[in-house]
Formats: sequence, C-alpha cells, structure tokens
Amino acid sequence: MLGGLGRLKEELQQYIEWPLKNPELFEAIGIKPTKGILLYGSPGTGKTTIAKILACQADAYFISASPADITSMWYGQEEKRVRAMFQLAREKNPAIIHVDDIDGLFPKSRELMHEATHRALVQFINEMDGLRDTGGVVVLGSTNRGLDSLDQALLREGRFDRKFHVPLPDFRGRIEIFKIHTGNMPISEDVNFEKLARETKNFSGAKIKTCCELAGYNAIRRYCNEKNVKVEDIRFDLIKEIKVCNKDFQKAVISLVK
Ligand SMILES: Nc1ncnc2c1ncn2[C@@H]1O[C@H](COP(=O)(O)OP(=O)(O)O)[C@@H](O)[C@H]1O
Ligand SMILES: [Mg+2]
Repeated sequence: MLGGLGRLKEELQQYIEWPLKNPELFEAIGIKPTKGILLYGSPGTGKTTIAKILACQADAYFISASPADITSMWYGQEEKRVRAMFQLAREKNPAIIHVDDIDGLFPKSRELMHEATHRALVQFINEMDGLRDTGGVVVLGSTNRGLDSLDQALLREGRFDRKFHVPLPDFRGRIEIFKIHTGNMPISEDVNFEKLARETKNFSGAKIKTCCELAGYNAIRRYCNEKNVKVEDIRFDLIKEIKVCNKDFQKAVISLVK
C-alpha cells in the first residue's frame, strides 16, 4: 500500500489500465493510447512500487528489466535483449514492460555510452516507435534522477511522452505512510503521528518505512534493558507486553535526520 500520492495512482491507471483492458474503446473514441510513461522523482518515493502495483492491477503480462539485468547478464548483447523483450511483449499482448532506473541504462550523454549500449538505445527507440498505435504494449520507465539525466530522444512524442513527477510526501502524506508501516505494530498510546510527520519533513516513503522498522528494534532493545531479559527469552505473554512507544520513534527519527 502506498500513502500520500493523491490522485497520481488513479491518473496513471487511466493511461495504463484502460487501453490495455479495452483497446476497442480507444479506437472508437479516436485516441491513440500512450505507449510510454515515465515516473521520476527522488529515491524512495515509491516509483518502483507503483509500477508493480499498476502492473498487477492491469492484469497484463509483466516484463521487468532493470539496467542490472540488461547489462550484466547480457554484456555486449544488450541490443538482442531489448529486441527479445519487445518481441515477448508483443506476443503476450496485453503487456507492460517496466524499465526501472532507466537513466542507468540510457544516460544523457551518448559519448559516454559503451558501443553496445548505444546500439541497445537505438533498438529501444525503434521498438517503441514500432509499437502499434492501437496499443496492447505499454512501456513504463522510472528514474531517481531528473529528466535531463536521460537521453533526450527517449522523451520525444510517441515515446515516453507522459511524464509524472513522484514527489516527496507532504505532511498529510507522511501521516498516511506512518500509519501504513505501523499497521501491524503494537503501538503505544503516546505515539503521535502528526508530531512524527512534522519531525520528518523531507523524508521519503522509504525513509519513513525504515524509521518504523528502527522504532521496532528500539522497542525490543528498550524492553530487554528495562526487564533485564535476553531477546531469546521474550516469549508468550512477554511478547504481548512490548509496545513501540514515542521514545522508540524519536530515537529512530534522530538517527535518520543526521
Ligand atoms: N508513498 C509511500 N507509501 C508507503 N510506502 C512507501 C511510499 N514510498 C515508498 N515506500 C516504501 O519504500 C520502499 C521503497 O520504495 P520504492 O518503490 O523502491 O521507491 P523508488 O523506486 O521511488 O526508489 C517500498 O518498500 C515502499 O514500501
Ligand atoms: Mg526504484
């Protein structure tokens, strides 16, 4: 579950899910479905997670490619790998190709690109241009960097022409994210999510998740110290005694703010 993204998820759904689920409708209305969607924003804001959720909801065949899969396993053969990926997507139609951290694959400066990577980029662009206008295959890219860190040819009309910024969560968003990641925790009554949200300005969703996990560890450590017991001896009823309290969160926030 993702918190604090407002209407972004629904908006993305209309570009991804609608045309994959009902291509005839798009033809009848006379609009060409979007072929490429790019999510960009700071690390840990939930881009990879959104892509996975959208793919799951769209009921489409999902092909996931990160630069690590493409370049390390296929060193020197990236072009072939790109071709195979698109071929599979066309066969499995409807399909989503997700290229995570796409800036790592196709960075801005072609001069710095390995020759094989350059061929892969050209292949990738040709494949995107060659996708039928009637839809069936959507390419979803994500990057932790700004749009100017990418090869600009990728951003042209008909390629990744829908770009969505995934922002750091605002105050309300941070409260939602704290609630999501403490959903299974025994939380003490002194924990105040609004206060935590005020103290975690500029935290990404991922950082808030880490904060909750650290608070859990802090609670266990505190309990052991207070009761003078070892972790392995906290069993049965004792487990139920532990609550993650404000102090545990405060410590976690301080360690992450540094
Ligand atoms: N808005 C959010 N709501 C809830 N959890 C989030 C949110 N953003 C990030 N996370 C958590 O942070 C982790 C990393 O997110 P990820 O999707 O990999 O971020 P990105 O791809 O933008 O770097 C995920 O496990 C997710 O649970
Ligand atoms: Mg990511």
